[in-house]
Amino acid sequence: MPHEPIRIAIVGTGNIARIHMAALTKVAAPAAGAPVKAEVVAAADIDEGRLAAFAREHKISATFHDAGELLSEVRPDLLHICTPPRLHHEQALACLRAGVTALVEKPPAISLRELEELAAAEAPAGTPGGPWLATVFQHRFGPGQRTLKELAASGTLGRPLLAVCHTTWFRDQAYFDVPWRGRWDTEGGGPTMGHGIHQMDMLLDVLGDWTTVSAAARTLARRTQTEDVSLAHVTFGSGAVASVVNSVISPREESLLRYDFENATVELTHLYGYGEGNWRVTPAPGHADAVLAGWQGEPPGGRSVSRSGHHAQFREILTALRAGTRPPVETADSRRTLSLVAAIYASAFQGGCPVTPGDLAPGTPFYEAMNGGRAAW
Ligand SMILES: NC(=O)c1ccc[n+]([C@@H]2O[C@H](COP(=O)([O-])OP(=O)(O)OC[C@H]3O[C@@H](n4cnc5c(N)ncnc54)[C@H](O)[C@@H]3O)[C@@H](O)[C@H]2O)c1
Repeated sequence: MPHEPIRIAIVGTGNIARIHMAALTKVAAPAAGAPVKAEVVAAADIDEGRLAAFAREHKISATFHDAGELLSEVRPDLLHICTPPRLHHEQALACLRAGVTALVEKPPAISLRELEELAAAEAPAGTPGGPWLATVFQHRFGPGQRTLKELAASGTLGRPLLAVCHTTWFRDQAYFDVPWRGRWDTEGGGPTMGHGIHQMDMLLDVLGDWTTVSAAARTLARRTQTEDVSLAHVTFGSGAVASVVNSVISPREESLLRYDFENATVELTHLYGYGEGNWRVTPAPGHADAVLAGWQGEPPGGRSVSRSGHHAQFREILTALRAGTRPPVETADSRRTLSLVAAIYASAFQGGCPVTPGDLAPGTPFYEAMNGGRAAW
């Protein structure tokens, strides 16, 4: 069982690590009367100045330049991996092999092969205490998403028919000056892998397994090795179809998820996070009573979370760890999301041909690397 408070370490003390610290303070600071308490006991970064400033600001006394050294000297209960994507596989693998649960920022790995290797290093199913791999997909945990998932599963909304999952964001050229961004070998892709992945994860959380993907990708306006836009047509096991767009060249930014079920349209319009007011539900004729009663009822897990964000996911992770159970988002879920990303690239690199899960089997090019080892669309 983890220590009391739960001992957390962080590797990578850049932009997102600051969000992690703020979220942990919100949900788990021992002084804040949190139901599950946690403290950050160590941090690691190769950038001496950044590490020192981070440690000073957050009063972290144990600092390291190497994740492996941190793991052997501190042996935390949980390691937050906040480094660039290329390092996630190596650092999460070292973490799991040290018997420590890893919480890795998205994407959990930059290929399906890497993710499978991490899955193999997790504790066998049913082993209490882990170690496990959890991936940060914080928008699964906001108000509305749980209710939607439950109403879809219970049949209240009827069959899912059509969905729209459009992540149209804006990143200027300077954003890509950071050396690891916009490269296949360090980021594993462009906005499909790095930005729209959040919304695609939410889409799959509701609609389940995809069966076929046809896609196109283009590099239209940024100097990057990867795409700056992708468009896909996705078919689901239920028969539902979805339009998926991922962009970092859209001056009016928006994150849009829209579902047309038989009995209602459910829409979420937001940017980098949402609350209850970002949702709109329009019942089909004759279904208003059942749909609205379901939507306005008590959501699974209660109303304690008012917005999506890291804090909402961390609360659930710490609660699971305290109980000795597997924390979310589990590898089975992040694998489904990463395989949709891989399918979009596989189709885009092959002229838009339909791609099925079987086309991404171990040993195939797009299982090994998101660009399938190719240079151009
Ligand atoms: N969940 C979200 O909404 C969200 C948002 C932004 C970024 N992210 C993800 O967070 C991760 C980090 O992004 P960022 O914007 O914080 O990047 P960043 O470049 O600001 O920070 C990365 C840090 O890792 C450090 N680092 C590099 N190599 C290292 C090594 N070998 N050992 C230890 N430290 C090392 C760097 O020095 C840097 O301080 C990425 O995977 C990114 O996709 C997630």
